[in-house]
Amino acid sequence: MTTRLLPTCVNCAAIVAKATRVERGKFITVEGIEGVGKSTNIGFIREAIEARGLRVSTTREPGGTPMAEEIRGLLLDHGDEPVPNIVELLLMFAARALHVNNVIKPALDEGIWVICDRFTDTSRAYQGAGRGFPLSDINRLADWVHGDLQPDLTVLLDAPVETGIGRAGQRGEPDRIEKEKADFFARARECYLSLAAAEPERFAVVDANREKAAVRATIDAVINGILDEVLD
Ligand SMILES: Nc1ncnc2c1ncn2[C@@H]1O[C@H](COP(=O)(O)OP(=O)(O)O)[C@@H](O)[C@H]1O
Ligand SMILES: [Mg+2]
Repeated sequence: MTTRLLPTCVNCAAIVAKATRVERGKFITVEGIEGVGKSTNIGFIREAIEARGLRVSTTREPGGTPMAEEIRGLLLDHGDEPVPNIVELLLMFAARALHVNNVIKPALDEGIWVICDRFTDTSRAYQGAGRGFPLSDINRLADWVHGDLQPDLTVLLDAPVETGIGRAGQRGEPDRIEKEKADFFARARECYLSLAAAEPERFAVVDANREKAAVRATIDAVINGILDEVLD
């Protein structure tokens, strides 16, 4: 009787690895000028994802790690020392480098969905259109700091500047950037809308100039659309 040799399963390890490999989480960013409802709607996005049984983590920029939160403190309240625009831009990206490497990528790798309150589009809108840095400079920094990580979805909450400022005004003392004049936010809003027009597959533009429940209904539809695609 001949002994039948079982074929050695050279691919076994790869097959097992594939079966147990966690699906990378999705990276969702939420953008818009002050007071449009980013923090409010991040809560709704989180609930919509959790309702489908997925793990989700929320974070914010600038900040999201202990050291990046310290940079946030410097950026938003630095005492009397002037902050040159270039310092604001570089500190934003320094904080982002910490956040991307220490928090966002590790979570996504573990299969956790990450919802981030502001990301690089904020630098485009605020340091770019607001402060006057060319978009090409900001995109160069973005490539350098997170060339291999782009949001899967960016929810842009859009509302007139007066709406945002009016809502934010109810929150208490404004920080250094919130103290900017209306035309700064008007430039930022226009920039956001042109970024969204240039990348319609990444952006969902949501009319935030409506009651909370109506905004939430749109948000739920957008997020459930993505969840349906992923979970199908
Ligand atoms: N659609 C809405 N209509 C009215 N008020 C809103 C709406 N969305 C949020 N708010 C309120 O406006 C204020 C600013 O909202 P917030 O979520 O903190 O904005 P952001 O994080 O974009 O600065 C909060 O008091 C919030 O409860
Ligand atoms: Mg907020």
